Amino acid sequence: MTREATPNVDLALFGALGDLALRKLYPALYHLDRDGLLGTDTRILGLARREHDADSFRSAVLATLKKRIKGKELEQACLDRFLARLDYTQLDFDTVDGYEKIRDWHGQSPDSQCPLTIYLAVPASIYGAICANLERSGSLDSESRVVVEKPIGYDLESSHEINDAIGAVFPESRIYRMDHYLGKETVQNLIALRFANPMFGNQWNQSQISHVEITVAEQVGIEGRWGYFDKAGQLRDMVQNHLLQLLTMLAMDPPANLDADAIRDEKVKVLKALKPLEGEDLNRHVVRGQYVAGTMEGESVPGYLDEEDANTSSTTETFVAMRLEVANWRWAGVPFYLRTGKRMPEKLSQIVIHFRQQPHYIFDPDQRNLAANKLVIRLQPEEGIALQVLTKDGGLDKGMRLRPGPLHLDFNHAFPKERIPDAYERLLLEVMKGQQYLFVRRDEVEYAWKWVDQLIAGWEKRDIPPRRYPAGSWGPVASIAMITQDGRSWYEDY
Ligand code: BG6
Repeated sequence: MTREATPNVDLALFGALGDLALRKLYPALYHLDRDGLLGTDTRILGLARREHDADSFRSAVLATLKKRIKGKELEQACLDRFLARLDYTQLDFDTVDGYEKIRDWHGQSPDSQCPLTIYLAVPASIYGAICANLERSGSLDSESRVVVEKPIGYDLESSHEINDAIGAVFPESRIYRMDHYLGKETVQNLIALRFANPMFGNQWNQSQISHVEITVAEQVGIEGRWGYFDKAGQLRDMVQNHLLQLLTMLAMDPPANLDADAIRDEKVKVLKALKPLEGEDLNRHVVRGQYVAGTMEGESVPGYLDEEDANTSSTTETFVAMRLEVANWRWAGVPFYLRTGKRMPEKLSQIVIHFRQQPHYIFDPDQRNLAANKLVIRLQPEEGIALQVLTKDGGLDKGMRLRPGPLHLDFNHAFPKERIPDAYERLLLEVMKGQQYLFVRRDEVEYAWKWVDQLIAGWEKRDIPPRRYPAGSWGPVASIAMITQDGRSWYEDY
C-alpha cells in the first residue's frame, strides 16, 4: 500500500525558544522529516521575543536535536534538510506591529494551497491577544488553523474566556487543542482494542467489569516550575485533562464511525455522566497529597515545600487519588479508581480493567481472590497490553492450583523494527492532515472543568489539607485505605 503524502503546511511557532518547543516540538518535527512524513514544501517559522537571526535560531534548534536525539537517528542529510525549513522572526506578541511578517512569510510559500498553521507554545493567557493580532494583521485566511496547548484556563470561567477569544478568530473545525496523552500509541490502541475485538467489545460494561484503575505516576518533582505548578496542583495539571481524557476513551460508547465529532460526541457524554464528588464523598473517595523529603533510587530528594522558589506554607496537592463513578447504563456501579502524583517510585502510566469473577467458583478457596481476568494497558514505559488469565500450575504435585499469567502484547517486542513515535509526532502529523479526532473539543474542556471546579469548591469549603507522603513512595497511606475500604487493592505488578 502506498503511503499518502502529508500535505504541506506553513507552521508559525509562537514560543519558538521555549521549553516545549525545544524539548518536544523540534525533535518530533525532525523525526517526521526523517520518516518522510513532512510535506516537501513544509516550512517552519520560529517566533519569539528574543533577538535572533535565522542562522542563530537554526543553531539553537540543532543544539537541542543533538542533545535529544542519539545514534543513527541523527542523520546529517536529514538534519540539513530539516534546518533548511526553518526561519525566524523576532516578535513582541502583544502588539500587532510585526505580525505582517507572518503574512509576508506565508505569502512566499512555494505551495499556494498550504495552510498557515499557528502553534501557540505560550501561556494560555496570551492566546486571545495573539489570535486577535493575527487577524488584524491580515495573516489568516479561511484555511488557517491554530494549535493550542493545555491548560486551557484555570477553571470553567477562565476557560470560557480563552475559548471565546480563540473562537472569535478561528472556527472550532480549525482549532486543535492538544492533550499529548491522546497521541500516545497505547491510547489509540484502546480504540482498536475495544472496537475491533468483539471479545472485548462485548464485555465492556458493568455486567462483566468490576472496576477500573488508572495510574499516572511520575518520578519527577516540580523541576523549576514551582510558580506555575503551585497555582494549579495535580488535579488541574493532570486530572482535568490527561486522566479524564483516558477515562473518556475507556468509558465512551462505540462511536458510529471514526470521525472526529462522532468520537468526541461520545467522550462528552461520559464527562456529562461523571458523578460529582461532594459532601462526605470528598473525605471517603478523594485523597489529596503533598510530598515531603524522601529517597528516590538511593538519592535524597527535597520535599515540595523545600523546592526552589517554594512558598513554605503552600497547601497545593502534588498527588490525588479518587474513586469516580460514571452514572450511565453501561457503567452503573463500576468504580473508576484514579491516582496520579509527582515523586513516585517509578514513571508509570497504566490502566487496569478488572473483570468480574465467575458466578460459581470450584477451585481452592484460598485462591478465590485470584480468580478473575485483568487487562493491563501500559502507556509508559514499555507500551503494551497484557491480558492476565488463569491456567493450571504445572507439575504433578500441584493438583488444580491456579496460576495467573499474562498473554502479552509488548509493542517493542511485537513490532521490533518500528520505533514507537512520541505523542507529539503523531499529533503534529494529524494537524498537518487536518484530522481532529485526537484533539479535544471545546465542550470536552468545559465539562471537564465543570466537574473539577465543583470538586475544588468542596475542598475549599471543607478546608481539606493535603496529606504528606515521602518522595519515592506511592502516595499517602490514605490512598491505599481508600481502595481497601471497597475490599480491593491497587494493582501491583510494576
Ligand atoms: C504535563 C504536565 O501536561 O504532563 C506535567 O503539565 C507532567 O506536570 C507531564 O509532568 C507528564 O507527561 P508525560 O508524557 O511525561 O507523562
